[in-house]
Amino acid sequence: RLTQNLKQFEDWFVLDAAELKKITDHFVAELEKGLTKEGGNIGFLFNAIQPMNVTWVKSSPSGRELGRFLTLDMGGTNLRVCDVTLSEQKGDFEQTQRKFKLPQEVKSGTGEELWDFVADRLKDFLEENPTGAQDNTSVPLALTFSFPVDQKNIRSGILQRWTKKFEVSGVEGEDIVPQLEAALARKNIPVDVVALINDTTGTMIASHYRDPQIKIGSIFSTGTNAAYMEECRLVPKLEGYGLPEDAKVIINTEYGAFDNDRQILPFTPFDHQIDSESLRPGTQLYEKMVSGLYIGEMLRLVMVKLHEEGRLFQDKDITRLRESNVVDATFLSIAEIDTSEGLDDMRKEFEGLFNFSPAVDEMKVCRYLTGLIATRAARLYACGIAAICKRNNIRECHVGVDGSVFNKNSGFKDRASQGLRDILDWPVGEIDLIALNASEDGSGVGAALAASLALKEADQIK
Ligand code: BG6
Ligand code: GLC
Repeated sequence: RLTQNLKQFEDWFVLDAAELKKITDHFVAELEKGLTKEGGNIGFLFNAIQPMNVTWVKSSPSGRELGRFLTLDMGGTNLRVCDVTLSEQKGDFEQTQRKFKLPQEVKSGTGEELWDFVADRLKDFLEENPTGAQDNTSVPLALTFSFPVDQKNIRSGILQRWTKKFEVSGVEGEDIVPQLEAALARKNIPVDVVALINDTTGTMIASHYRDPQIKIGSIFSTGTNAAYMEECRLVPKLEGYGLPEDAKVIINTEYGAFDNDRQILPFTPFDHQIDSESLRPGTQLYEKMVSGLYIGEMLRLVMVKLHEEGRLFQDKDITRLRESNVVDATFLSIAEIDTSEGLDDMRKEFEGLFNFSPAVDEMKVCRYLTGLIATRAARLYACGIAAICKRNNIRECHVGVDGSVFNKNSGFKDRASQGLRDILDWPVGEIDLIALNASEDGSGVGAALAASLALKEADQIK
Protein backbone atom coordinates (compact mmCIF):
# COMPACT_ATOMS: atom_id res chain seq x y z
CA ARG A 1 0.00 0.00 0.00
CA LEU A 2 2.81 2.33 0.97
CA THR A 3 4.49 2.07 -2.34
CA GLN A 4 1.27 2.12 -4.37
CA ASN A 5 1.50 5.79 -5.18
CA LEU A 6 5.02 5.64 -6.46
CA LYS A 7 4.12 4.63 -10.00
CA GLN A 8 5.60 7.80 -11.46
CA PHE A 9 8.96 6.91 -9.88
CA GLU A 10 8.78 3.40 -11.29
CA ASP A 11 8.13 4.88 -14.72
CA TRP A 12 11.22 7.01 -14.32
CA PHE A 13 13.60 4.46 -12.87
CA VAL A 14 12.58 0.96 -13.98
CA LEU A 15 14.34 -0.13 -17.18
CA ASP A 16 13.13 -3.30 -18.86
CA ALA A 17 15.22 -5.70 -20.97
CA ALA A 18 14.20 -4.06 -24.26
CA GLU A 19 15.40 -0.64 -23.09
CA LEU A 20 18.70 -2.07 -21.84
CA LYS A 21 19.25 -3.76 -25.20
CA LYS A 22 18.63 -0.52 -27.09
CA ILE A 23 21.06 1.36 -24.87
CA THR A 24 23.67 -1.40 -25.28
CA ASP A 25 23.42 -1.33 -29.08
CA HIS A 26 23.97 2.41 -29.12
CA PHE A 27 26.84 1.93 -26.68
CA VAL A 28 28.53 -0.53 -29.09
CA ALA A 29 28.40 2.07 -31.88
CA GLU A 30 29.84 4.75 -29.59
CA LEU A 31 32.75 2.51 -28.48
CA GLU A 32 33.47 2.02 -32.15
CA LYS A 33 33.41 5.77 -32.85
CA GLY A 34 35.89 6.52 -30.08
CA LEU A 35 38.43 4.24 -31.78
CA THR A 36 38.29 6.11 -35.09
CA LYS A 37 40.64 8.99 -35.90
CA GLU A 38 37.80 11.47 -36.16
CA GLY A 39 35.98 10.11 -33.14
CA GLY A 40 39.08 10.25 -31.02
CA ASN A 41 39.68 13.88 -31.90
CA ILE A 42 36.09 15.05 -31.88
CA GLY A 43 35.53 13.25 -28.61
CA PHE A 44 38.41 15.12 -27.07
CA LEU A 45 37.56 18.53 -28.44
CA PHE A 46 33.81 18.53 -28.24
CA ASN A 47 33.26 16.11 -25.39
CA ALA A 48 30.63 14.24 -27.41
CA ILE A 49 32.35 10.88 -27.74
CA GLN A 50 33.96 8.71 -25.13
CA PRO A 51 37.75 8.93 -25.40
CA MET A 52 38.69 5.18 -25.79
CA ASN A 53 42.21 6.02 -24.65
CA VAL A 54 45.17 3.92 -25.75
CA THR A 55 47.07 2.93 -22.59
CA TRP A 56 50.21 1.48 -24.24
CA VAL A 57 49.95 -1.60 -22.02
CA LYS A 58 50.47 -4.14 -24.78
CA SER A 59 50.65 -7.45 -22.99
CA SER A 60 49.29 -9.30 -20.02
CA PRO A 61 51.54 -10.38 -17.17
CA SER A 62 52.89 -13.90 -17.48
CA GLY A 63 52.98 -14.41 -13.71
CA ARG A 64 56.77 -14.59 -13.81
CA GLU A 65 57.34 -10.85 -13.28
CA LEU A 66 59.84 -10.03 -10.56
CA GLY A 67 61.01 -7.01 -8.66
CA ARG A 68 60.14 -4.32 -6.22
CA PHE A 69 57.99 -1.31 -7.05
CA LEU A 70 56.48 1.71 -5.36
CA THR A 71 52.97 2.58 -6.45
CA LEU A 72 50.83 5.67 -5.96
CA ASP A 73 47.07 5.78 -6.51
CA MET A 74 45.35 9.14 -7.04
CA GLY A 75 41.72 9.54 -7.99
CA GLY A 76 39.66 7.14 -5.88
CA THR A 77 38.34 7.87 -2.40
CA ASN A 78 41.83 7.64 -0.92
CA LEU A 79 45.37 8.40 -1.91
CA ARG A 80 47.14 5.08 -1.59
CA VAL A 81 50.85 4.31 -1.45
CA CYS A 82 52.18 0.76 -1.77
CA ASP A 83 55.50 -1.01 -1.78
CA VAL A 84 55.01 -4.17 -3.84
CA THR A 85 57.43 -7.05 -4.31
CA LEU A 86 56.55 -9.49 -7.08
CA SER A 87 57.98 -12.84 -6.12
CA GLU A 88 59.26 -15.83 -8.06
CA GLN A 89 56.28 -17.89 -7.03
CA LYS A 90 53.94 -17.53 -10.03
CA GLY A 91 51.21 -14.97 -9.31
CA ASP A 92 52.48 -14.24 -5.81
CA PHE A 93 53.47 -10.90 -4.27
CA GLU A 94 54.06 -9.07 -1.00
CA GLN A 95 52.68 -5.65 -0.34
CA THR A 96 52.85 -2.94 2.32
CA GLN A 97 50.34 -0.14 1.90
CA ARG A 98 48.98 2.98 3.48
CA LYS A 99 45.88 4.97 2.62
CA PHE A 100 45.52 8.71 3.14
CA LYS A 101 42.34 10.76 2.96
CA LEU A 102 42.48 13.30 0.15
CA PRO A 103 41.19 16.58 1.66
CA GLN A 104 38.54 18.51 -0.28
CA GLU A 105 40.79 21.59 -0.50
CA VAL A 106 43.42 19.51 -2.31
CA LYS A 107 40.78 18.37 -4.84
CA SER A 108 39.97 21.97 -5.66
CA GLY A 109 43.32 23.73 -5.22
CA THR A 110 46.25 24.18 -7.59
CA GLY A 111 48.24 21.50 -9.38
CA GLU A 112 51.32 22.33 -7.35
CA GLU A 113 49.40 21.88 -4.08
CA LEU A 114 47.99 18.56 -5.30
CA TRP A 115 51.34 17.09 -6.34
CA ASP A 116 53.08 18.43 -3.23
CA PHE A 117 50.44 16.69 -1.12
CA VAL A 118 51.01 13.44 -3.04
CA ALA A 119 54.81 13.74 -2.69
CA ASP A 120 54.53 14.49 1.04
CA ARG A 121 52.42 11.37 1.59
CA LEU A 122 54.94 9.28 -0.33
CA LYS A 123 57.64 10.75 1.90
CA ASP A 124 55.61 9.85 5.04
CA PHE A 125 55.24 6.33 3.72
CA LEU A 126 58.94 5.95 2.92
CA GLU A 127 59.90 7.21 6.37
CA GLU A 128 57.72 4.52 7.93
CA ASN A 129 58.63 1.86 5.40
CA PRO A 130 62.15 2.51 4.14
CA THR A 131 62.89 0.59 0.98
CA GLY A 132 66.38 -0.11 2.27
CA ALA A 133 67.72 1.00 -1.11
CA GLN A 134 70.44 3.65 -0.84
CA ASP A 135 68.91 5.50 -3.71
CA ASN A 136 65.20 5.04 -4.32
CA THR A 137 65.64 5.48 -8.06
CA SER A 138 66.43 1.77 -8.04
CA VAL A 139 62.82 1.22 -6.87
CA PRO A 140 60.70 2.18 -9.88
CA LEU A 141 57.37 3.90 -9.28
CA ALA A 142 54.03 3.48 -11.07
CA LEU A 143 51.25 6.04 -10.78
CA THR A 144 47.59 5.07 -11.03
CA PHE A 145 45.77 8.22 -12.03
CA SER A 146 42.02 7.61 -12.35
CA PHE A 147 41.09 10.27 -14.89
CA PRO A 148 41.08 10.43 -18.69
CA VAL A 149 44.57 11.03 -20.08
CA ASP A 150 45.83 11.14 -23.64
CA GLN A 151 48.98 9.01 -23.77
CA LYS A 152 51.63 8.73 -26.46
CA ASN A 153 53.56 6.25 -24.30
CA ILE A 154 53.17 4.64 -20.89
CA ARG A 155 55.49 7.07 -19.12
CA SER A 156 53.49 10.22 -19.78
CA GLY A 157 49.94 11.45 -20.27
CA ILE A 158 48.04 14.68 -20.80
CA LEU A 159 45.00 15.13 -18.59
CA GLN A 160 42.00 15.55 -20.91
CA ARG A 161 39.61 16.69 -18.21
CA TRP A 162 38.93 16.33 -14.54
CA THR A 163 36.01 14.12 -13.58
CA LYS A 164 34.46 13.06 -10.24
CA LYS A 165 34.28 16.60 -8.77
CA PHE A 166 38.02 17.21 -8.92
CA GLU A 167 38.71 20.77 -10.03
CA VAL A 168 42.45 21.36 -9.68
CA SER A 169 43.83 24.30 -11.65
CA GLY A 170 46.82 24.11 -13.97
CA VAL A 171 46.66 20.39 -14.75
CA GLU A 172 44.15 19.95 -17.61
CA GLY A 173 45.88 19.90 -20.97
CA GLU A 174 49.23 19.26 -19.25
CA ASP A 175 51.43 16.19 -18.96
CA ILE A 176 50.98 15.09 -15.37
CA VAL A 177 54.16 13.03 -15.02
CA PRO A 178 56.56 16.02 -15.13
CA GLN A 179 54.26 17.74 -12.62
CA LEU A 180 54.58 14.80 -10.22
CA GLU A 181 58.33 14.58 -10.87
CA ALA A 182 58.76 18.27 -10.11
CA ALA A 183 57.00 17.81 -6.75
CA LEU A 184 59.13 14.76 -5.97
CA ALA A 185 62.23 16.83 -6.75
CA ARG A 186 60.99 19.73 -4.54
CA LYS A 187 60.60 17.26 -1.67
CA ASN A 188 63.90 15.59 -2.44
CA ILE A 189 62.46 12.12 -3.09
CA PRO A 190 64.54 10.50 -5.81
CA VAL A 191 62.27 7.93 -7.45
CA ASP A 192 61.89 6.99 -11.09
CA VAL A 193 58.34 7.23 -12.50
CA VAL A 194 58.16 4.41 -15.07
CA ALA A 195 54.44 3.94 -15.71
CA LEU A 196 51.21 5.91 -15.68
CA ILE A 197 48.00 3.88 -15.74
CA ASN A 198 44.27 4.24 -15.16
CA ASP A 199 42.57 2.39 -12.28
CA THR A 200 40.60 0.22 -14.75
CA THR A 201 43.85 -0.80 -16.45
CA GLY A 202 45.36 -1.66 -13.06
CA THR A 203 42.26 -3.67 -12.16
CA MET A 204 42.39 -5.52 -15.47
CA ILE A 205 46.08 -6.41 -15.04
CA ALA A 206 45.78 -7.39 -11.36
CA SER A 207 42.71 -9.56 -12.02
CA HIS A 208 44.26 -11.20 -15.06
CA TYR A 209 47.37 -12.03 -13.02
CA ARG A 210 45.19 -14.23 -10.81
CA ASP A 211 42.61 -15.35 -13.34
CA PRO A 212 43.46 -15.64 -17.07
CA GLN A 213 39.76 -15.68 -17.96
CA ILE A 214 39.57 -11.97 -17.13
CA LYS A 215 38.96 -9.93 -20.28
CA ILE A 216 37.64 -6.69 -18.79
CA GLY A 217 38.74 -4.61 -15.80
CA SER A 218 36.16 -2.24 -14.41
CA ILE A 219 35.48 0.20 -11.58
CA PHE A 220 31.99 0.62 -10.18
CA SER A 221 32.40 3.14 -7.40
CA THR A 222 32.88 6.88 -7.01
CA GLY A 223 33.20 6.75 -10.80
CA THR A 224 32.34 4.16 -13.44
CA ASN A 225 34.62 2.95 -16.19
CA ALA A 226 36.12 -0.13 -17.89
CA ALA A 227 39.21 -1.24 -19.84
CA TYR A 228 39.76 -4.21 -22.15
CA MET A 229 42.44 -5.63 -24.47
CA GLU A 230 41.93 -4.60 -28.11
CA GLU A 231 43.61 -5.62 -31.36
CA CYS A 232 45.58 -2.62 -32.63
CA ARG A 233 44.68 -3.36 -36.28
CA LEU A 234 41.05 -2.62 -35.31
CA VAL A 235 41.91 0.80 -33.88
CA PRO A 236 41.98 3.30 -36.76
CA LYS A 237 43.50 6.02 -34.61
CA LEU A 238 46.60 3.83 -34.20
CA GLU A 239 47.29 3.79 -37.94
CA GLY A 240 50.74 5.14 -38.73
CA TYR A 241 52.30 3.94 -35.48
CA GLY A 242 53.96 1.02 -37.29
CA LEU A 243 52.68 -1.57 -34.81
CA PRO A 244 53.01 -5.27 -35.67
CA GLU A 245 49.94 -6.84 -37.31
CA ASP A 246 49.20 -8.96 -34.24
CA ALA A 247 49.80 -6.19 -31.65
CA LYS A 248 47.27 -5.70 -28.89
CA VAL A 249 46.77 -2.86 -26.44
CA ILE A 250 44.57 -2.17 -23.43
CA ILE A 251 41.98 0.50 -24.18
CA ASN A 252 40.69 2.62 -21.31
CA THR A 253 37.19 3.34 -22.59
CA GLU A 254 36.42 6.29 -20.26
CA TYR A 255 32.83 5.36 -20.94
CA GLY A 256 31.56 7.43 -18.03
CA ALA A 257 31.30 9.99 -20.86
CA PHE A 258 28.87 7.76 -22.80
CA ASP A 259 25.89 9.64 -24.26
CA ASN A 260 27.16 13.12 -23.47
CA ASP A 261 25.26 14.08 -26.62
CA ARG A 262 22.03 12.79 -25.02
CA GLN A 263 20.93 10.35 -27.70
CA ILE A 264 19.69 7.37 -25.76
CA LEU A 265 19.81 7.39 -21.94
CA PRO A 266 16.41 7.85 -20.28
CA PHE A 267 17.17 11.02 -18.32
CA THR A 268 14.71 11.83 -15.55
CA PRO A 269 14.18 15.35 -14.18
CA PHE A 270 16.51 14.31 -11.33
CA ASP A 271 19.30 13.43 -13.77
CA HIS A 272 18.92 16.82 -15.43
CA GLN A 273 19.11 18.54 -12.08
CA ILE A 274 22.19 16.61 -10.94
CA ASP A 275 23.92 17.42 -14.20
CA SER A 276 22.99 21.10 -14.33
CA GLU A 277 24.04 21.65 -10.71
CA SER A 278 27.32 19.74 -11.15
CA LEU A 279 30.75 21.35 -11.54
CA ARG A 280 30.83 20.24 -15.18
CA PRO A 281 27.38 20.17 -16.77
CA GLY A 282 27.13 18.12 -19.95
CA THR A 283 30.03 15.80 -19.06
CA GLN A 284 30.12 12.21 -17.73
CA LEU A 285 26.35 11.83 -18.18
CA TYR A 286 26.35 8.02 -17.96
CA GLU A 287 28.62 8.14 -14.90
CA LYS A 288 26.24 10.59 -13.24
CA MET A 289 23.39 8.04 -13.53
CA VAL A 290 25.40 5.06 -12.37
CA SER A 291 28.13 5.84 -9.91
CA GLY A 292 28.43 6.21 -6.16
CA LEU A 293 29.29 9.88 -6.30
CA TYR A 294 25.82 10.75 -7.59
CA ILE A 295 23.28 8.11 -6.54
CA GLY A 296 23.06 9.46 -2.98
CA GLU A 297 22.19 12.89 -4.33
CA MET A 298 19.61 11.24 -6.59
CA LEU A 299 17.87 9.71 -3.57
CA ARG A 300 17.97 13.04 -1.76
CA LEU A 301 16.29 14.85 -4.66
CA VAL A 302 13.59 12.17 -4.82
CA MET A 303 12.90 12.44 -1.07
CA VAL A 304 12.69 16.24 -1.26
CA LYS A 305 10.25 16.00 -4.18
CA LEU A 306 7.98 13.66 -2.24
CA HIS A 307 8.11 16.02 0.73
CA GLU A 308 7.14 18.94 -1.47
CA GLU A 309 4.21 16.96 -2.85
CA GLY A 310 3.04 16.50 0.75
CA ARG A 311 3.75 12.77 0.76
CA LEU A 312 6.80 12.34 3.01
CA PHE A 313 8.17 13.79 6.28
CA GLN A 314 5.26 16.23 6.53
CA ASP A 315 5.68 17.10 10.18
CA LYS A 316 9.49 17.16 10.04
CA ASP A 317 12.00 19.96 9.67
CA ILE A 318 13.87 18.88 6.54
CA THR A 319 16.36 21.78 6.44
CA ARG A 320 19.35 19.42 6.51
CA LEU A 321 17.87 17.18 3.84
CA ARG A 322 17.71 20.22 1.56
CA GLU A 323 21.51 20.56 1.56
CA SER A 324 23.10 19.31 -1.65
CA ASN A 325 25.23 16.18 -1.42
CA VAL A 326 24.43 15.31 2.22
CA VAL A 327 23.54 11.77 1.17
CA ASP A 328 26.28 9.48 -0.10
CA ALA A 329 26.28 5.95 -1.49
CA THR A 330 26.89 4.44 1.96
CA PHE A 331 23.42 5.64 3.01
CA LEU A 332 21.89 3.60 0.18
CA SER A 333 23.80 0.48 1.21
CA ILE A 334 22.73 0.86 4.85
CA ALA A 335 19.11 1.41 3.82
CA GLU A 336 19.13 -1.73 1.71
CA ILE A 337 20.99 -3.97 4.12
CA ASP A 338 18.90 -3.05 7.22
CA THR A 339 16.32 -5.81 7.62
CA SER A 340 15.39 -5.09 11.26
CA GLU A 341 11.67 -4.55 11.91
CA GLY A 342 12.09 -0.98 13.11
CA LEU A 343 14.77 -0.22 10.48
CA ASP A 344 17.03 0.81 13.34
CA ASP A 345 20.23 1.34 11.35
CA MET A 346 18.42 3.42 8.81
CA ARG A 347 16.85 5.52 11.57
CA LYS A 348 20.30 6.18 13.04
CA GLU A 349 21.46 7.42 9.65
CA PHE A 350 18.44 9.71 9.35
CA GLU A 351 19.03 11.13 12.82
CA GLY A 352 22.74 11.63 12.23
CA LEU A 353 22.48 13.10 8.76
CA PHE A 354 19.19 15.00 8.76
CA ASN A 355 18.44 15.61 12.42
CA PHE A 356 15.00 14.01 12.42
CA SER A 357 13.53 10.61 13.07
CA PRO A 358 11.06 9.39 10.45
CA ALA A 359 8.17 6.96 10.92
CA VAL A 360 8.92 3.35 9.97
CA ASP A 361 6.47 3.61 7.06
CA GLU A 362 8.32 6.63 5.72
CA MET A 363 11.60 4.75 5.90
CA LYS A 364 10.01 1.87 4.01
CA VAL A 365 9.12 4.27 1.23
CA CYS A 366 12.73 5.54 1.18
CA ARG A 367 14.02 2.01 1.09
CA TYR A 368 11.80 1.21 -1.86
CA LEU A 369 13.04 4.33 -3.69
CA THR A 370 16.63 3.39 -2.84
CA GLY A 371 16.01 0.02 -4.48
CA LEU A 372 14.69 1.72 -7.64
CA ILE A 373 17.69 4.05 -7.90
CA ALA A 374 20.29 1.38 -7.11
CA THR A 375 18.70 -1.11 -9.50
CA ARG A 376 18.68 1.42 -12.32
CA ALA A 377 22.36 2.20 -11.64
CA ALA A 378 23.32 -1.49 -11.67
CA ARG A 379 21.31 -2.28 -14.82
CA LEU A 380 22.76 0.70 -16.67
CA TYR A 381 26.22 -0.40 -15.50
CA ALA A 382 25.54 -3.78 -17.15
CA CYS A 383 25.00 -2.01 -20.52
CA GLY A 384 28.63 -0.83 -20.64
CA ILE A 385 30.03 -4.27 -19.88
CA ALA A 386 27.62 -5.93 -22.33
CA ALA A 387 28.61 -3.42 -25.02
CA ILE A 388 32.32 -4.26 -24.70
CA CYS A 389 31.47 -7.97 -24.92
CA LYS A 390 29.22 -7.48 -27.97
CA ARG A 391 31.71 -5.25 -29.75
CA ASN A 392 34.47 -7.82 -29.25
CA ASN A 393 32.42 -10.97 -29.75
CA ILE A 394 33.22 -12.03 -26.20
CA ARG A 395 30.69 -14.73 -25.34
CA GLU A 396 32.32 -15.97 -22.20
CA CYS A 397 34.67 -14.24 -19.77
CA HIS A 398 35.27 -12.96 -16.28
CA VAL A 399 35.14 -9.25 -15.50
CA GLY A 400 37.30 -7.96 -12.63
CA VAL A 401 35.36 -5.25 -10.80
CA ASP A 402 36.74 -3.02 -8.04
CA GLY A 403 35.35 -0.10 -6.06
CA SER A 404 33.55 0.42 -2.79
CA VAL A 405 30.03 0.63 -4.27
CA PHE A 406 30.37 -2.78 -5.91
CA ASN A 407 32.24 -4.42 -3.05
CA LYS A 408 30.20 -3.11 -0.12
CA ASN A 409 26.72 -3.97 -1.37
CA SER A 410 26.23 -7.38 -2.95
CA GLY A 411 22.91 -6.11 -4.32
CA PHE A 412 24.82 -4.25 -7.04
CA LYS A 413 26.51 -7.39 -8.29
CA ASP A 414 23.24 -9.36 -8.32
CA ARG A 415 21.34 -6.63 -10.13
CA ALA A 416 24.09 -5.94 -12.64
CA SER A 417 24.36 -9.68 -13.34
CA GLN A 418 20.60 -9.82 -13.91
CA GLY A 419 20.98 -6.85 -16.27
CA LEU A 420 23.59 -8.80 -18.25
CA ARG A 421 21.29 -11.83 -18.43
CA ASP A 422 18.46 -9.62 -19.75
CA ILE A 423 20.65 -7.92 -22.36
CA LEU A 424 22.39 -11.05 -23.56
CA ASP A 425 19.26 -13.28 -23.44
CA TRP A 426 20.68 -16.04 -21.31
CA PRO A 427 18.30 -18.89 -20.56
CA VAL A 428 17.05 -18.82 -16.96
CA GLY A 429 18.99 -21.09 -14.63
CA GLU A 430 22.07 -21.38 -16.84
CA ILE A 431 25.43 -20.40 -15.43
CA ASP A 432 26.46 -16.82 -16.21
CA LEU A 433 28.84 -16.82 -19.13
CA ILE A 434 30.00 -13.31 -18.35
CA ALA A 435 30.68 -13.23 -14.64
CA LEU A 436 31.35 -10.11 -12.57
CA ASN A 437 34.03 -10.94 -10.00
CA ALA A 438 35.13 -8.66 -7.18
CA SER A 439 38.73 -7.62 -7.72
CA GLU A 440 41.20 -5.64 -5.68
CA ASP A 441 44.67 -4.18 -5.71
CA GLY A 442 44.60 -2.74 -9.20
CA SER A 443 46.61 0.21 -7.97
CA GLY A 444 48.99 -1.99 -5.96
CA VAL A 445 49.97 -5.18 -7.69
CA GLY A 446 48.27 -4.12 -10.96
CA ALA A 447 50.36 -0.95 -11.15
CA ALA A 448 53.52 -2.84 -10.16
CA LEU A 449 52.92 -5.34 -12.96
CA ALA A 450 52.32 -2.49 -15.42
CA ALA A 451 55.66 -1.00 -14.35
CA SER A 452 57.37 -4.35 -14.79
CA LEU A 453 55.88 -4.77 -18.29
CA ALA A 454 56.95 -1.20 -19.18
CA LEU A 455 60.54 -1.81 -18.03
CA LYS A 456 60.69 -5.06 -19.97
CA GLU A 457 59.50 -3.34 -23.14
CA ALA A 458 61.95 -0.46 -22.69
CA ASP A 459 64.76 -3.02 -22.30
CA GLN A 460 63.73 -4.80 -25.50
CA ILE A 461 63.79 -1.53 -27.45
CA LYS A 462 67.34 -0.69 -26.25
C1 BG6 B 1 40.51 0.81 -5.38
C2 BG6 B 1 41.54 0.77 -6.50
O1 BG6 B 1 40.42 -0.38 -4.73
O2 BG6 B 1 39.27 1.19 -5.94
C3 BG6 B 1 41.66 2.19 -7.03
O3 BG6 B 1 42.79 0.30 -6.04
C4 BG6 B 1 40.32 2.66 -7.52
O4 BG6 B 1 42.63 2.25 -8.03
C5 BG6 B 1 39.31 2.54 -6.41
O5 BG6 B 1 40.38 4.00 -8.00
C6 BG6 B 1 37.93 2.94 -6.83
O6 BG6 B 1 37.08 2.90 -5.73
P1 BG6 B 1 36.68 4.18 -4.89
O7 BG6 B 1 35.61 3.68 -4.02
O8 BG6 B 1 37.89 4.61 -4.14
O9 BG6 B 1 36.24 5.19 -5.91
C1 GLC C 1 36.08 8.37 -13.78
C2 GLC C 1 37.44 8.62 -14.43
C3 GLC C 1 38.06 7.33 -14.91
C4 GLC C 1 38.09 6.31 -13.78
C5 GLC C 1 36.70 6.15 -13.16
C6 GLC C 1 36.70 5.20 -11.97
O1 GLC C 1 35.21 7.91 -14.74
O2 GLC C 1 37.31 9.53 -15.50
O3 GLC C 1 39.37 7.53 -15.38
O4 GLC C 1 38.53 5.08 -14.26
O5 GLC C 1 36.21 7.40 -12.74
O6 GLC C 1 37.55 5.63 -10.96
